[in-house]
Amino acid sequence: MTRRQALQVAGAFTGGAFADLACTEARPRPRVLPSRLAIPELFRTELTVPRVMKPARTDGAADYYEMTARPASVELIAGVRTNIWGYDGTFPGPTIEARSGRTVLLKLRNSLPIPIVNHLHGGRTESVSDGYPTDFVLPESGEKFAGGNPQRSVAGEREYRYENQQRAAQLWYHDHRMDFSGAQVWRGLVGAYIIRDEEEDRLALPRGDKEIPLVICDRSFQVDGSLAYPSIDSTLRGSPGVTHPYMGGVLGDVILVNGAAWPKLSVANTRYRFRVLNASNARRYELALDPAPAHGAAFVQIGSDGGLLGAPIRHRTVRIAPAERFDLIVDFSAYPVGTAVTLRNLSDSGKTGAILRFDVVRKEKDDSAIPDRLSSFEAIDVRSVAAVREFDFRFDRNSQLWTINGRAFDEARIDAAPRLDATEIWRLRSDFNHPLHLHLVHFQVLSHGGPPGRWDAGWKDTIDMEPGQATSIAMRFSGYRGKYVFHCHNLEHEDMAMMANLEVV
Ligand code: C2O
Ligand code: CU
Repeated sequence: MTRRQALQVAGAFTGGAFADLACTEARPRPRVLPSRLAIPELFRTELTVPRVMKPARTDGAADYYEMTARPASVELIAGVRTNIWGYDGTFPGPTIEARSGRTVLLKLRNSLPIPIVNHLHGGRTESVSDGYPTDFVLPESGEKFAGGNPQRSVAGEREYRYENQQRAAQLWYHDHRMDFSGAQVWRGLVGAYIIRDEEEDRLALPRGDKEIPLVICDRSFQVDGSLAYPSIDSTLRGSPGVTHPYMGGVLGDVILVNGAAWPKLSVANTRYRFRVLNASNARRYELALDPAPAHGAAFVQIGSDGGLLGAPIRHRTVRIAPAERFDLIVDFSAYPVGTAVTLRNLSDSGKTGAILRFDVVRKEKDDSAIPDRLSSFEAIDVRSVAAVREFDFRFDRNSQLWTINGRAFDEARIDAAPRLDATEIWRLRSDFNHPLHLHLVHFQVLSHGGPPGRWDAGWKDTIDMEPGQATSIAMRFSGYRGKYVFHCHNLEHEDMAMMANLEVV
């Protein structure tokens, strides 16, 4: 049986009790998986910041990191133990800080019972190190698994080479195992990766303890504190995918920031730089401050997926889809000391309408500044374009799969073969919200159901396509030749076939 048939049978089989759902709705929507554990109180624990990793060694050529993906028991909810699969046993994993132009060699050991694949999201990485979904790192136990590419899979550990030939930006690394990314990321396989460069160093942006990564994701819990996820096969060894009601995407009912449920953070009345990553499988957020500042914008956006913008943009709210990053300045001088400011999610109500609380507790002198010109950002030149491609993203009712141009992912089929250094325009259509992500390149948004939206500025690697809207993006395929993927970053859609091959030739 092929993988596609297996997915179809799984969908049809588990869909039995929910057949009406599939038949009456044009497409399955993301759905909340209710926790069986009492939902914790908001803002009880302090926000923590993931540890910044130290290289095991360093020389003139590179920084060498060693990391182990392993099971661990951690506290995501105060007083509750949860078994996770984490990089070095933490959730999120440790943060890697890299310099533009300086190579990182990451040796990743697999002490988990299943194959893993590491992808540096937003990285301009050579194909062999990019984490193609079938380039498995098999468990060090030696156990065999189907589904990997025998030529490109290894057992026990793999060294990934990240040359960091790109500008300063917040990237992230996460699991990308074929058919099981959603389940394995949900268990904890995510971490932040920050590239710095001289252009950014010259700015007086908030730094040190006033530059804080916020890795936001949602999860659901079993009554014993373990993570709940509707896998067809919870051992992640057999059939891929989620049970039919969840094939539109799995939403958790507990919001975690840096691996803690609804934390709080004490801040000074100064500017802070928050590097926000939506690491959720399928949940999108619209960020807002409550109360809104009496004067000035709630958020000053200085960067997007691909690093600094040319000039700052002020926002009242920021909408962020899975895998997107926003580099945001919040100026707490707009609030009197003693104010509690909640970071809300306007896309939802109730507890999942809240994310984090800032308590403005002290006065401090602020020596940071946000210059009017942030970086040498330039609009992509689309006067001579080598190719215009069209892709249509939709749910296919016959196969019950998420498809691109009517087709399910096929490892052997190349769906786009741009030439090295060619500039292309891609025209995209979608039936639903699909956060499209391209490996290798960053793009600029040319249109998004009309002119680019207010959250589309800068270099992007993920864009949230809206139902029924046409979107166009432009990119230049520079860096490396080789085979990569592009896919929907709703991880349940990705696992259920909404992925395609891109080979730079
Ligand atoms: Cu963040 Cu192919 O993924
Ligand atoms: Cu999708």
